[in-house]
Amino acid sequence: MSNLDCQSASEIVIFGAMGDLSCRKLLPALYQLEVCGLINKDSRIVGAARQDHTLEEFKSVVVENLNKYVKETIDEAVLTRFINRLVYQALEFKDSSSFNKLNDALAGGNDTRVYYFSTPPAIYGDICKGLHHANLITDADRVVMEKPIGHSLESSIEINNQVSEYFKENQTYRIDHYLGKETVLNLLVLRFANSLFTNNWDRNSIDHVQITVAESVGIEGRWGFYDEAGQLRDMVQNHLLQILSLLAMEPPADLSAESVRAEKLKVVKALKAINRENIKDKAIRGQYSDGFLNGVSVPGYLNEEGANANSNTETFVAIKAEIDNWRWKGVPFYLRTGKRMPKKHSEIVVHFKQQPHNIFKDSYSDLPANKLTIRLQPDEGVELQMMNKIPGIASQMRIQENKLDLSFSDTYNDERVVDAYERLMLEVLNGNQSLFVSRDEVEAAWIWADSIIEAWKTTNEAPKPYAAGSWGPVSSISLIARDDRQWVE
Ligand code: BG6
Repeated sequence: MSNLDCQSASEIVIFGAMGDLSCRKLLPALYQLEVCGLINKDSRIVGAARQDHTLEEFKSVVVENLNKYVKETIDEAVLTRFINRLVYQALEFKDSSSFNKLNDALAGGNDTRVYYFSTPPAIYGDICKGLHHANLITDADRVVMEKPIGHSLESSIEINNQVSEYFKENQTYRIDHYLGKETVLNLLVLRFANSLFTNNWDRNSIDHVQITVAESVGIEGRWGFYDEAGQLRDMVQNHLLQILSLLAMEPPADLSAESVRAEKLKVVKALKAINRENIKDKAIRGQYSDGFLNGVSVPGYLNEEGANANSNTETFVAIKAEIDNWRWKGVPFYLRTGKRMPKKHSEIVVHFKQQPHNIFKDSYSDLPANKLTIRLQPDEGVELQMMNKIPGIASQMRIQENKLDLSFSDTYNDERVVDAYERLMLEVLNGNQSLFVSRDEVEAAWIWADSIIEAWKTTNEAPKPYAAGSWGPVSSISLIARDDRQWVE
């Protein structure tokens, strides 16, 4: 990981600068880095987008969005410094000759450039061609790509090939914003800085693991985009597999990008294939129907604005993932993610094995196993469920299940929760790839995900309905109940 030194100067060019991601996440993240003094004083931020705007108009859009999306009070002196870095360039992405204007805009600036592709992936190739045409690519430059990187293995290869014609792998930063979340980063610390866990992190001590990433939001006006993807492509192929890899990987030799990414890749490659033979027992897909969230009625997926009533796209997925290696043989990782679930709630629960013999039968006939809960968001924290003696003189020992609860907001209440994009932007500026996804990882993840999608196509079964505001279809409960286990609610 980076230290917090201010990196050398570079031009930060955001393609799609007027878009939602840029306004909601990227520009506020850069502003926060400015607050922390982590952007080199000579760096400029260049917004590039299709629309014609004057610099003054761009600046006012940026200020408006900072006011909207930065939670803390805006510091006027910092804002002035930040605004002075801004440059705007209108570009026709598909027309290479229009990139000459970008060349003019960058003239006299820093030699190192960070190109952030915050556009649909379909035009990544055009942007690369345009940059090349205008002589704007050197070995010192970096390119940042947003997900989705493709729709399948084939399309991801196509996108990666288009970009790799102009940028080498060590210049390429593929974003999975979950890797920038504090609690996801903390998985490394939890696992490798605590011998208690490091030495009990395998099939001998762990019974199974549950990973839940639930969202209460629905499709939020992007029905067309979402319907092409579905929850498996949108969340599982990337975010959930990244969490799974960090949880299951072997200890990397160090924190370098090579070491961490190589270990994560081995996990994804060791995932047992889910295919038409085993899909019914291993993967469930659901689609939300009309229901209630916090007492308010909300429409089902097929009744959302812009919906095609025949869509078979899944908004919920539950999977029993198995890792075919020495460490994890026989330890299922149950994954569950969906839209319109009762609340935004993401957590990992590691269920340790039960004690082989119970000497406390008189007071507790069935000793519960230890559980480690890692609350990813919101209410970030780590919780360890364990048995304890209830104090007292009674001759019969009374014992109880209690928890050690490390709540991040209570423990680190002076610290601001850093947004994932701030961390990731900083790592790009520092040239550290360890929190970015390698091409091999993306492709291995697609191989696994494609097989599930293919199997669903062949079974031809519609996704199981679940009421908006519930925890998913009944069959997702059966998926885990078949193994005599249950989801933690
Ligand atoms: C995005 C998905 O990658 O992650 C969205 O495309 C999803 O559908 C979002 O809502 C969830 O991110 P977070 O940080 O709110 O958990």
